[in-house]
Amino acid sequence: MKDIPAGSSIGIEAPAKVNLFLEVAGRRPDGYHDLESIFQAISIYDTLTIESTRSGAVTISCNVKTLETPENLAVEAARAFLDAAGLDTGLHIALEKRIPVRAGLGGGSSDAAAVLVGLNRLAGAPFTNDDLRAMAASLGSDVPFFVEGGTALVEGRGERVRQMDFGGVFYFVVLYPGFGVSTAAVYKNLRLKLTGEKRNVKVLWDLMSTGNLDAAEGEFFNRLEETAIGLDDRLGKLKLRMSLRTGGASVLVSGSGSSLFSAFADKHRALKAYEALKAATPGELYFAGSAMRRAPAVHPKGDNGGDF
Ligand code: C5P
Repeated sequence: MKDIPAGSSIGIEAPAKVNLFLEVAGRRPDGYHDLESIFQAISIYDTLTIESTRSGAVTISCNVKTLETPENLAVEAARAFLDAAGLDTGLHIALEKRIPVRAGLGGGSSDAAAVLVGLNRLAGAPFTNDDLRAMAASLGSDVPFFVEGGTALVEGRGERVRQMDFGGVFYFVVLYPGFGVSTAAVYKNLRLKLTGEKRNVKVLWDLMSTGNLDAAEGEFFNRLEETAIGLDDRLGKLKLRMSLRTGGASVLVSGSGSSLFSAFADKHRALKAYEALKAATPGELYFAGSAMRRAPAVHPKGDNGGDF
């Protein structure tokens, strides 16, 4: 396996995600839940620069000081990669955070996947994306999706990822309400009705795969939403407030919350909703588009094989 020479560096972007669909198939013996979900990467990005050092340690600097800790999932990802590759290079990760934290937008998971992908490029691509997804699964349920991003059907705990050849684009209005939600608390409080009807992801999958985006808008769904709103009724009020101003589009909680979003096939409708919401909502409002799937690993040229 190739080493990573000291002083080499790579820049990489880490997109956020929303869940266009999320059904919970059941609780597993290990306490996690089996999901059927369509993940969509969106164009809100953290950026990372990973640099090899002579220090022998993995360090991190971040514009959000509370994330500057050895427990940051990006640091754990770097350690997992070095272990798997049998390397003892020192690394410094500079993380520029733009994706809100504990927001259901997958920011921490995306940063971790970006570290795996970035290090794989720096090391001359010793691992396949399947290898990286296996490493990713041990870091967190949402991390495997972010190895490639784009649009994907995600099943199991999150480790089974099937990319969709989705040529279309959705436009998103995303509201981070200014407070976070604990994913573990939402899953813990989830009451799955044994007799309740399960929604089938195939309907939305087929509509999106065939480019039927207007009809797809009516099939967005999130099983975790009711529980997230039950835990914090501010989310229910915000959902109502957003629904009244988005011209009839559906408003959904992303993942376990706390962000709410609407997705539009039509850019003008999305922009209109964004303008209408800007004045009427607390927190941070984002306008975004679908983010494309990450390009396959390439061998970095020289010292700087970055994305930028
Ligand atoms: O895997 P991750 O650390 O992101 O999961 C956070 C929490 O969410 C877990 O502790 C678990 O309670 C819950 N979870 C779950 N089923 C999943 C994903 C997460 O129960 N598929």
